[in-house]
Amino acid sequence: MSVDLRTTYLGMELSNPVVVSACPMAEDVDQLARLEDAGAAAAVFPSLFEEQIEREELEIHGFYEQATESFAESVTYFPEMTDYNVGPGAYLRRLEEARKRVSIPVIGSLNGISAGGWVHYARQMQQAGASAIELNTFVITADLDADAATIEKRQVELVKAVRAAVTIPLAVKISPFYSATAHFAKQLVDAGADGLVLFNRFVHPDIDLDTLTVRPHLKLSRSYDGLLPMTWIALLHKRVDASLAATRGVHTAEDALKMLLVGADIVEVASTLYENGPEQVGVIRDGIRSWLEHREYESVEQAKGSLSYAHSPDPAAFERAGYLRTLASYTSRVV
Ligand SMILES: Cc1cc2nc3c(=O)[nH]c(=O)nc-3n(C[C@H](O)[C@H](O)[C@H](O)COP(=O)(O)O)c2cc1C
Repeated sequence: MSVDLRTTYLGMELSNPVVVSACPMAEDVDQLARLEDAGAAAAVFPSLFEEQIEREELEIHGFYEQATESFAESVTYFPEMTDYNVGPGAYLRRLEEARKRVSIPVIGSLNGISAGGWVHYARQMQQAGASAIELNTFVITADLDADAATIEKRQVELVKAVRAAVTIPLAVKISPFYSATAHFAKQLVDAGADGLVLFNRFVHPDIDLDTLTVRPHLKLSRSYDGLLPMTWIALLHKRVDASLAATRGVHTAEDALKMLLVGADIVEVASTLYENGPEQVGVIRDGIRSWLEHREYESVEQAKGSLSYAHSPDPAAFERAGYLRTLASYTSRVV
């Protein structure tokens, strides 16, 4: 008997749970077609950034030159952004092109921190054929006077604004750094998020000791990085009314299975594609199938969430008790 790998994410039925996470590979139509052939069930385009959209709108209206002084940061980092993705207009054309070329759902990604006019791009992504929107709310708040409630409120308002702009499903990709992550997740769902993508991976800068400069640094993930999203997916499964996507640290079928068992509807993969090529999506999918077959599961749906906090025979393992137990297990060991 063959295992039914189908899963439902954001109300969409997908052929299997392996999805391409937001990254430039998804935006290249030839690579995207390769990913589809390899078995990817859907793909998320790389993000289009609030700053890029706002800059383009200023340029259109001839205001950019006057605005650059107040918008000083943009002058230094936008040349690089143009290398990252193709910019707002071409982004929409690539989405349209992707829509025609592949039959898997293609999800548009918006990346920003404040509700504003730029949000209308969500609707344009929908018009260009995006099956859903993934909203990334990456922010590092260095302002000593900005409190948590204010920042969270701003993000909730942003979710409401994007929700109001589109009729397609909306997923929100968040960071793990909230003092009350579960409550914040619930607020996002109440604001209109159909799904949560856990978690954003921060790109921390590094120090170059030769030049004594701070430089951007993107390190690909390792399987170990998956433990944090896995814990939070376990804690949220069936407790918030939203689809859950695991992103971070899924490199193998084993990594993916753990995410599904704690309640993820899909896994989103990026690093492993850069390390092993697009075909890795098929390797992960086939590994999921073999493991489920071997364990006599009939479907992904049957396995999904069986070890989540809500269903686990040992829910305390996900909480402070698990932390204490883990530390206690080390006391008798001699290094
Ligand atoms: C080269 C590269 C580019 C990425 N670009 C984006 C992006 O534009 N928007 C976004 O939300 N995430 C972006 N990400 C993050 C991934 O979508 C993913 O969430 C993260 O890398 C964790 O998954 P992984 O462990 O499989 O890499 C990028 C990751 C990589 C490696």
